[in-house]
Amino acid sequence: MRKKERKAKFTFLSGNILDKHNKNIFTPSIIKTVNGVKVGILGLCGNKLKIDKIPGGNKFKVASPMEKAEEISARLKKEGAEYVVLLTNLNNRYCRRIAQRGMPIDLIIGSSKRSRISLPILVQDTYIVHVERGGKSVGRLDVSFLGPAGVEALPAALRYKGKTVGENIFLLNHFFPLKIAMPDHPVIGSMVKKVEAKLSRLQQVKATKSMSIVNSGRPAIKPGDSYVYAKTCAECHPQRYKRWLKTSHAKAYQSLVKQEKHFDAECIGCHTLGYEQLGGFTDIRQVGNYANVQCESCHGPGRLHVAAKGGEKMVKDLAGGKMCLTCHIDERSPEFELEPYFTKTCGSPLPVKK
Ligand code: HEC
Ligand code: HEC
Ligand code: HEC
Ligand code: HEC
Repeated sequence: MRKKERKAKFTFLSGNILDKHNKNIFTPSIIKTVNGVKVGILGLCGNKLKIDKIPGGNKFKVASPMEKAEEISARLKKEGAEYVVLLTNLNNRYCRRIAQRGMPIDLIIGSSKRSRISLPILVQDTYIVHVERGGKSVGRLDVSFLGPAGVEALPAALRYKGKTVGENIFLLNHFFPLKIAMPDHPVIGSMVKKVEAKLSRLQQVKATKSMSIVNSGRPAIKPGDSYVYAKTCAECHPQRYKRWLKTSHAKAYQSLVKQEKHFDAECIGCHTLGYEQLGGFTDIRQVGNYANVQCESCHGPGRLHVAAKGGEKMVKDLAGGKMCLTCHIDERSPEFELEPYFTKTCGSPLPVKK
């Protein structure tokens, strides 16, 4: 990291990564003058970081972020900082605990597990915002120091969207989604592609290892039930099948392949049928018939239904569309709304639950 820092055009901040003699490895904080305001910025990492597990990491330690926040923020104030910002990977709970201590920290930019907490959260006198997980958007927080005219000086549209802090600070938080259609920077893009390809090879090796554990002695769903795949359903529901083929559900696996992510356990579950589920598959390298979001991803396994020529009911209660939300979670499908999504895939509006 220090080698990287020498190449970087900015300072790496960490107030709580220390060596054996309790000396800082990185710069703990800086003061920058931004539009005439002295802004103190400190960096802290979570103390759950298992630094001793990193090769050579046992020479270092991570001090309590709480204690270091207290110490460094007080020092920044003494050095004349008018506005103090804490950058951290701590979660929302810990950020709130820091804020509750009433330290001279005006803003915490944290890293909550929940994505897109778009409105800044106020705890005591500290505002908290978070970056989005997985690099799926760029966050931008505008902090305006208002003159004597106060909020009145701002355009009305902004006043409505943002938040005023005390009398003279105004916050406006945005997330700009980095959609797949957005082109990568050519240099960064090709670097990432190389890393993804390497990662993909490693993931295949890893799949071999975890397989034997996961696969041991799984019972089937209902006795005798398991997956028969979309092609089988097509025999009796040809219209449904035709329509499904046109939806992106039928191409969901290809989307992963395109990104070299088809061996990634973090991705595979929602883009296939029955991954790590009873009657499903566990070996990422052998997806075979389980590729894509199929009929049975929504309707549940159909072997018994097919054997009884439709006489045995499919298992899942789909009315209300709650099932869609098992995959269309906020982090992955931020624009999801039951309607129109439902009509788009199912061809007709959402059935009303009786
Ligand atoms: C051998 C023919 C046949 C095959 C193959 C078949 N179905 Fe059916 N399916 C039927 C018949 C007949 C009905 C109507 C039964 C009724 O209305 O009681 C039906 C009804 C349904 C229903 C509505 C009633 C319910 O059980 O909820 C769903 C959903 C359904 N099928 C899904 C599927 C899926 C998914 C597959 C593939 C896994 C599949 N079917 C394969 C014959 C078949
Ligand atoms: C098993 C996981 C899963 C379930 C359950 C699921 N989806 Fe999806 N859905 C996906 C995935 C993955 C994609 C993206 C496919 C791709 O482009 O690679 C997707 C894409 C879509 C799209 C296309 C979005 C677009 O703009 O192109 C619609 C519409 C959609 N789903 C609606 C639904 C609805 C409605 C339900 C519930 C009835 C549902 N989905 C249930 C995984 C799922
Ligand atoms: C929790 C379920 C889930 C997981 C896990 C998941 N996805 Fe998806 N993915 C979806 C859904 C749902 C959509 C459809 C989003 C929409 O259009 O609303 C989607 C869409 C996509 C698309 C098409 C997006 C586009 O703009 O065309 C790609 C590519 C994709 N996912 C890749 C991945 C990768 C790579 C991973 C792993 C890092 C992953 N997904 C993990 C559910 C998931
Ligand atoms: C994205 C999820 C999803 C996928 C994929 C999907 N379905 Fe459905 N299907 C639904 C929902 C939701 C309904 C609405 C019925 C309900 O609410 O119970 C439905 C309705 C049906 C019905 C009529 C049920 C009735 O009660 O009249 C049949 C038959 C059916 N689907 C078969 C299939 C077949 C065959 C496939 C694959 C080719 C398929 N579906 C793919 C979600 C899905």
